[in-house]
Amino acid sequence: MTIYARITGTGSYLPEKVLTNKDLEAMVDTTDQWIRERTGIVKRHIAVDGQTTCDLAEQAARRAIEAAGKTPDDIDLIVLATTTPDKIFPSTACLVQQRLDIHGCAAFDIQAVCTGFIYALSVAEKFIRTGAARCALVIGAETFSRVIDWTDRGTCVLFGDGAGAVVVEASAEQGILSTHLHADGAYENLLHVPGGVSRGFDIPDADGDPHFTHMKGNEVFKMAVNTLGRIVDETLHANGLKKSDVDWLVPHQANIRIINATARKLSMSMEKVVVTVGQHGNTSAASVPLALDTAVRDGRIQRGEVLLLEAFGGGFTWGSVLLKF
Ligand code: ACO
Repeated sequence: MTIYARITGTGSYLPEKVLTNKDLEAMVDTTDQWIRERTGIVKRHIAVDGQTTCDLAEQAARRAIEAAGKTPDDIDLIVLATTTPDKIFPSTACLVQQRLDIHGCAAFDIQAVCTGFIYALSVAEKFIRTGAARCALVIGAETFSRVIDWTDRGTCVLFGDGAGAVVVEASAEQGILSTHLHADGAYENLLHVPGGVSRGFDIPDADGDPHFTHMKGNEVFKMAVNTLGRIVDETLHANGLKKSDVDWLVPHQANIRIINATARKLSMSMEKVVVTVGQHGNTSAASVPLALDTAVRDGRIQRGEVLLLEAFGGGFTWGSVLLKF
């Protein structure tokens, strides 16, 4: 009998502090109109001082566990995707494990920037399909505001903080149908934070301040549109499906224009695309599970429907998950 990995609960959390486009007008040379037209973003949530990625992840995780009708004791694997961990070590997955009072199961972080949740879900699926885990907690959580230069209008208007989580269980019923992961490190310098533990933060040839995100937005935009178009084809082809077989597109929430382009590629009406970018901006690894949880909780996504999750991010990394919800 085939064992499937099936999502049985979703949860998400946004920090209370909100930063609107109007607030940003007072900080950098930008306008609400420019941000809305070029990105679709209206506001973003920002973790206050002392509020960490683990804090956000814990809340999202508790909500997902509750939605699945489970308790923390049932969890036998924690995979957490983040670019902005609380500490260099232990992993944020271990910190969440401690908060949830879970002891002994495997817990580790994954770093694939905005594609992190897709990578994490794919890894958890392999554990479940091989019988190595039966009830996994998969989290995407970020305090991306910490790696943003708040004087750089080219990046600071785009990003926000948040967390999303799912519980994935072994099931005889169909769940995740296929996963597709890719990376190409040749594009390192189009989207990166130049400093790091090993390189240090005192880098003479650094592309600006080494603590913060540097992005060649226009080039990233074009790559994202082309790459996501290709992964849609790859995913449908691998499953022998037609575009019309997909009920919902749950895309990475980076920019409404990238989302529109992927929807056009799928010949999909925007009514069948979950769009939350306006409400929280690009939350990197948190964005796909945040969008998923929103549409599950407001009743749009129903059990049995076919969902296509996809993301693109620094690395470059990109990937998709096709699943029956
Ligand atoms: N407000 C006002 N004007 C601005 C702003 C701003 N916040 N930012 C840039 N501009 C200006 C530029 O300086 C430029 O002015 P110029 O013509 O006088 O030189 C003009 O607006 C156009 O700039 P572009 O960069 O060409 O604008 P574009 O339409 O490409 O939009 C954006 C920029 C929104 C960043 C877009 O390129 C984008 O979304 N890129 C992709 C980002 C992304 O998806 N990342 C995904 C992965 S993220 C991750 O992995 C962490």
